Amino acid sequence: MTNNLLKGKKGIIFGALDNKSIAWKTAIRAYEEGAKLVLTNAPIALRMGKIKELSKIVGDAPIIGADATSIEDIENLYKETKEHFGGGIDFILHSIGMSPNVRKGRKYGDLDYDYLRRTLDISAISFHKVMQVAEKSEIMNEWGSILALSYIAAQRTFPSYSDMAEAKALLESIARSYGYRFARNKRIRVNTISQSPTMTTAGSGVGGFDVFFSYAEKMSPLGNASAEDCANYIVVLFSDFTRMVTMQNLMHDGGFSSVGITDELIEDLMKIEEGKTKKS
Ligand SMILES: NC(=O)c1ccc[n+]([C@@H]2O[C@H](COP(=O)([O-])OP(=O)(O)OC[C@H]3O[C@@H](n4cnc5c(N)ncnc54)[C@H](O)[C@@H]3O)[C@@H](O)[C@H]2O)c1
Repeated sequence: MTNNLLKGKKGIIFGALDNKSIAWKTAIRAYEEGAKLVLTNAPIALRMGKIKELSKIVGDAPIIGADATSIEDIENLYKETKEHFGGGIDFILHSIGMSPNVRKGRKYGDLDYDYLRRTLDISAISFHKVMQVAEKSEIMNEWGSILALSYIAAQRTFPSYSDMAEAKALLESIARSYGYRFARNKRIRVNTISQSPTMTTAGSGVGGFDVFFSYAEKMSPLGNASAEDCANYIVVLFSDFTRMVTMQNLMHDGGFSSVGITDELIEDLMKIEEGKTKKS
């Protein structure tokens, strides 16, 4: 179903690694809704080559490599994007996350602090860099929309999420602070979407992800929001229907964040208790 929600709009999508990525699904939905795109990812991710498949699907969108922690790379990305479109852009999706501590299985009580700095730089400070360079290079058009993806571990503890929780808390704070600045300067809105656990490369890198996923599924009255659902929500937030939404962390989680316990989980726990009584 297409409604031309993004007709005439142009934007940059960071973070499409493969066809499971939230950014991949978003690029396709944004294109279907009439947007023109530039795709970008870290040079190491581009070497996988999959993004070329995506580019073909979305109207041969240019692929411009950029490590989102490098100011120089972001400056070059914006320069080439401006040349390609012959002007500014209307939206940016920051769909980037990585923790070397999580990847290497370091426990929260045994964090490597160089890794922690990398986690924060890649997963949160890069969002500030993306916006600061956007402001300085004046690439954003008025009434534009900038989004990053977060997770509820910014507000509540999920032990295996480790230092990514700190990264997401920082990311959400950066969205508020830059959201204020961009709103005053150029009427640009900045938000984060707090997404359900989703089966992607970054998601399944978190220890015990399958349990995470099924727990959230049972705790969400609507079930977990899929990557496709997330892409649809992002399209709406890039559209002119959400021009006054800014500086928000928007829950996209099937109701998870408002639930104490669900009937489904109570039934599961009762079965476990019954099993214990039978054994004793
Ligand atoms: N999957 C989930 O369960 C889930 C839930 C909530 C939020 N999120 C967030 O959604 C976003 C997208 O993740 P995803 O689940 O689609 O996984 P993904 O693995 O498909 O995407 C992560 C992307 O980050 C990119 N990246 C890593 N380091 C980079 C760097 N230095 N410069 C530029 N790009 C870099 C990777 O190349 C990859 O494309 C992340 O911010 C993630 O934390 C994911």
